Amino acid sequence: MPVINILSVSLRNKIAAGEVVERPASVVKELVENAIDASSTRISVETVRAGKKLIYVSDNGTGMDREDAVRAFERYATSKIRDEQDLSNLKTMGFRGEALSSVAAVSKMTMKTALSAPPGLRPGVNPDLRSGETNAGITGTLVEIAGGEITATKDCAASGTVIEVRELFFNTPARRKFLKSDATENYHIIDTVTREALSHYKIMFVLRMDGSEVFSLPAASSLHERLLQLYGKDFIDGLIESGFGHAGMSVSLFASRLEHMKNNRSMQFIFVNGRPVKDQSVGYAVYKAYEGMVPKEKHPVFFVFLDVDAGQVDFNVHPSKREVRFSQKNGVFDFIYNAVREVLKKDTGFCSVRKGEEETGTHPILETNMGCVPVSSGNLISEEPDRFFTGYLPVIYLGDTFVAVPTKEGLVLLDYHAAHERVNYERFLKRMDVRSHRLLFPRQVKLPRGEYAVLIEHLHVLNEEGLDAGDFGHDTIIVRSIPELLMDADIAALMSDIASSLLKNPVTRVPKNLSGAPAGLEPVDSERRIVAARMACHSSIRGKEVPDAVRVAELLKSLDAAENPHSCPHGRPTRITISVDELRKMFKK
Ligand SMILES: Nc1ncnc2c1ncn2[C@@H]1O[C@H](COP(=O)(O)OP(=O)(O)OP(=O)(O)O)[C@@H](O)[C@H]1O
Ligand SMILES: [Mg+2]
Repeated sequence: MPVINILSVSLRNKIAAGEVVERPASVVKELVENAIDASSTRISVETVRAGKKLIYVSDNGTGMDREDAVRAFERYATSKIRDEQDLSNLKTMGFRGEALSSVAAVSKMTMKTALSAPPGLRPGVNPDLRSGETNAGITGTLVEIAGGEITATKDCAASGTVIEVRELFFNTPARRKFLKSDATENYHIIDTVTREALSHYKIMFVLRMDGSEVFSLPAASSLHERLLQLYGKDFIDGLIESGFGHAGMSVSLFASRLEHMKNNRSMQFIFVNGRPVKDQSVGYAVYKAYEGMVPKEKHPVFFVFLDVDAGQVDFNVHPSKREVRFSQKNGVFDFIYNAVREVLKKDTGFCSVRKGEEETGTHPILETNMGCVPVSSGNLISEEPDRFFTGYLPVIYLGDTFVAVPTKEGLVLLDYHAAHERVNYERFLKRMDVRSHRLLFPRQVKLPRGEYAVLIEHLHVLNEEGLDAGDFGHDTIIVRSIPELLMDADIAALMSDIASSLLKNPVTRVPKNLSGAPAGLEPVDSERRIVAARMACHSSIRGKEVPDAVRVAELLKSLDAAENPHSCPHGRPTRITISVDELRKMFKK
């Protein structure tokens, strides 16, 4: 009796859908990329309840005739490649012929489409034609499909292609359960459309969520203009722009000036041949180029638009086409590394000395702290740390954020940043001597759309922590007062950090009375903890400061009084004690 089954087509499609359609943003990505491939000049995306209820994508592209409109939903149905050779010479975003069938397998879809005139005769492409001049009145096709089964095909009026995806994952409850909060899913949708809009700046993009416009980006004449449309002038001024070409590769680069680094990796974008991708080697090359110029905990903002010969790159690595494989991985690494180094040299206000090339005579301890510091900067340490150690506790500064202190228990190795974070974290949580300080001039902080959206949802949590912030509209948060402990903090960086932390650690809201609800924190409480942890990090002594002996003594005392003195809010140790007994053992006594 055979035990091997051949799976039904509908089950095969559901399985394939699992790889292609991870969340609403994946649907948005596939539909937008289809619209791009259809030579659209205007693409509009609308979602309701973070795409869980509705995703609507309309374009003014080539459209399809009736036969293709039906065939498009079959698996391996594509107009983009014919044979193996085409696979190594891809010019389109799609090529696998499985996106529409995958989305259709796990949702209820409607598509209206009409084959338009050739591009030269199409409104929007040919500016001499009025909208609708060639398409209006053309009979199009409406296809309805639910769970992969076509339920209706009829005539309709159409122009370009309009696709509605309703009730995503209605027939795959397990997947539906894994969807995150609306704020998180919205963030991913915004991120997806933003990346597509960046990789295709000549196309107009409109994004609306729950009836309100997130952005409307007219066709731009350059990458620079598209970046301006998305992030505004202040942000772009913090970037250095450049372009390079070499041996079949070219890159347009926007990378942050050394004084415009971020505390997280949220603003890092890589595009290869017009395709938003994740690629570790390109990202690593950028970091390597910054090495020694910025502190370890800082992250560059970068936009890398890399173009390589189609034969030198394989996009057929992952079903969602997010990853690439380069045939000359080392060549790409060197190219990007050198390009970023050149860009950083342009930033003339800063020294371009590499780590290890500093002038001799530099204090060896300072080297670990400074790497390469801005020539003009006055706020990084420039004094000999020795001068701090005049207090009554013999404190030895070891470099980075470490000091050694002899105590009754033995030798304490203290990570003073982690220790300070723990102390401040508990202060924030317990609201101990956390006074709010009203800013003389309220501070406006413009943020990327996703970060702004999540902060708006959590303003009450910020307010509870003594950070009075409100919605200023236009992706801007207004900060009116901050806890005194944060007086010296970079408020814009703090807000961005809180937002990305909330996005990275979405709190699943479980109704209180639901049996089986996880024990422990209520959602609001855990959101408070996330916010408090970020505030603690920003209010703590940084690696570039060296605390004096008095401060170290105070810190050790506060740490002893903490509820959990052993680790910082992220779980890293605050101190390691080596007792005399342990020393004896180490010295084999
Ligand atoms: N918006 C659109 N306008 C015109 N044609 C479209 C549109 N969307 C899909 N099509 C047609 O339907 C076909 C199938 O689309 P589908 O996304 O499933 O596959 P693909 O884009 O070829 O490959 P991939 O699975 O990699 O996305 C496309 O090849 C294209 O011919
Ligand atoms: Mg496609």
